[in-house]
Amino acid sequence: MKLFIDTANVSEIREMAWLVDGVTTNPSLVAKEKRPFREIIAEICELVDGPISAEVIGLETDTMVAEARTLAPIHDNIVIKIPMTEAGMKAVKILTSEGIRTNVTLVFSANQAMMAAKCGATFVSPFVGRIDDMGGDGMGLIAEIKDCYQNYCFATEILAASIRHTRHLLDAALLGADVATVPYGVLKKAFDHPLTDLGIARFLKDWEGVPR
Ligand code: E4P
Repeated sequence: MKLFIDTANVSEIREMAWLVDGVTTNPSLVAKEKRPFREIIAEICELVDGPISAEVIGLETDTMVAEARTLAPIHDNIVIKIPMTEAGMKAVKILTSEGIRTNVTLVFSANQAMMAAKCGATFVSPFVGRIDDMGGDGMGLIAEIKDCYQNYCFATEILAASIRHTRHLLDAALLGADVATVPYGVLKKAFDHPLTDLGIARFLKDWEGVPR
């Protein structure tokens, strides 16, 4: 499974660049940084050599395609994030035909994921955390999309998004999501276990009794 970091914070990305395979941003994450969007995206592309998602703001096909055409030249690793709407899928089809990679975002059903795959999306981003927040089954959606894609050998990669905690990360891996995009705090927690800390402390204590 590929691991992306879900942030527009350059310090977080710099710290985790040794680990991650890519980066996802969105307008809310970019807004937190109080810096120009393109400047942030260009800086991220210098830090991580993998897919970097940059989201369009327009809602019409034409405006999405126009924005995408100005974002894609920033760097070869740019992937254009397009919202899951009918207009958005028309844009995905056009961009795919131009060789511009896309990440279809705000996906909440397997039918939406199928539409994205039919249009040639590179990635599809089901938002598992937001589904769980409403009492739904985010991981169930990942499983459904996986089944649909396997039935027809769609090449679109399933990118588990809106990851809230380490259990989400593990479940995404168990279900065979191609990618999980994970917030900085959750990534850091994935290294930890209290028994590891206890084990290290005990080994060090016992080591004191080894003759030198
Ligand atoms: C994905 O690409 C999105 O940026 C992100 O995962 C959204 O997550 P949220 O529900 O925590 O905002």
